[in-house]
Amino acid sequence: MEPTTAPTKPTFSPAAQAEIKRLLTHYPEDRSKSALLPILHIAQAEFGGWVSPEVQDLVAETLGIKPIEVYEVSSFYTQYNLKPVGKHVLEICRTGPCMLRGSDELTAHLERITGAKVGGTSPDGTFTLKEVECLAACGFAPIVQVREKYYEQLDTPEAVDAMLSELKSLVHRPILPWEETGLPNSLKNY
Ligand code: FES
Repeated sequence: MEPTTAPTKPTFSPAAQAEIKRLLTHYPEDRSKSALLPILHIAQAEFGGWVSPEVQDLVAETLGIKPIEVYEVSSFYTQYNLKPVGKHVLEICRTGPCMLRGSDELTAHLERITGAKVGGTSPDGTFTLKEVECLAACGFAPIVQVREKYYEQLDTPEAVDAMLSELKSLVHRPILPWEETGLPNSLKNY
């Protein structure tokens, strides 16, 4: 029988540790749990775009909270990926206004072009497709969110193809200070 080796426990890089330390200065010492959401984002960026149970345990350890407190949050918000994903995660809004403006056709087109099914990843590992609820930009339906950026009015094949070629040309950059990643329609974190 082959000897089994214990999986390596994940650890944050020095850059991520420094960013987490800086983030925690924004919260009272006895309220560090409030930094859970941004630290989960850092963890997701650090560990390949998803948060495994081991990574979530690391987040819990970092914040001095119970793992279940992290699991409850990560499984609630669709922004956190709980299984491996491709280089770009496309969150397709499927709620009423986007549906009326063609989100079903948009999804079918994306599946055809990328080779990924909703909930899965393209064979080349570039795109993961997810369906999500209202992204609060109904006036610009149909919408796809990719990290911090909204791609709006994707109601023609040309608009979708332009989005995909833009994404294919992007290279993810390392973690940025949290405040610098939040601007809508920004490409800062790529
Ligand atoms: S329904 Fe799609 S953004 Fe609101």
